[in-house]
Amino acid sequence: MDSRDQAKTAIYPGTFDPITKGHVDIIRRAHRLFQNIIIAVSPNPRKTPLFQLAERIDMVREATKDLQGLSIEPFDGLLVDFADNKGAIAIIRGMRAISDFEYEFQMALMNRQLNLNVETLFLMPSKEYVYLSSSLIKEVAGYGGDISDLVPEVVSERLLKKISSRTNEAR
Ligand code: COA
Repeated sequence: MDSRDQAKTAIYPGTFDPITKGHVDIIRRAHRLFQNIIIAVSPNPRKTPLFQLAERIDMVREATKDLQGLSIEPFDGLLVDFADNKGAIAIIRGMRAISDFEYEFQMALMNRQLNLNVETLFLMPSKEYVYLSSSLIKEVAGYGGDISDLVPEVVSERLLKKISSRTNEAR
């Protein structure tokens, strides 16, 4: 079979602590371009995530359950190795603003240096989500701000629970 006939797989990696509507927006855009998408959730201890890896995977699964051809998997180690093992031809990254550019540019070129066969594709989220980040969501929710329009329902619920259990622990 010609490689052009094969189903095309892309990887969308991130920490997703937690997934926001900005991430979901990117996933929906990528879903129009690729038959298979693997959402690769990094443990990323460097970021000391608020949610456990299993919780983050669960929320991603719930937030994207209406989409076919999606799998959600944890990954550790080099992203390009994971992509290669999965037969993916592309890494999807969201580009929100100029401030993302330098970091994303470095990662894309390093990944290309490590593996020439995997291309990085940048997609822009809808303009209502360009200012969003997971840290900002956690900060606003932590101070009791309303983030319900900016995250999937499951995230809103779990954030509230997590924050109230932390407040109780601190008492
Ligand atoms: N909407 C909302 N927020 C978005 C977004 C979007 N469309 N796109 C990115 N973000 C936010 C994220 O929420 C995150 O915010 P935070 O820093 O406040 O948590 C930030 O932008 C970027 O994080 P994310 O998209 O989760 O990616 P990451 O930078 O945490 O993940 C990895 C980076 C895991 C992909 C990268 O470290 C990696 O590949 N690691 C594996 C090891 C490896 O191969 N290293 C070499 C890389 S060259």
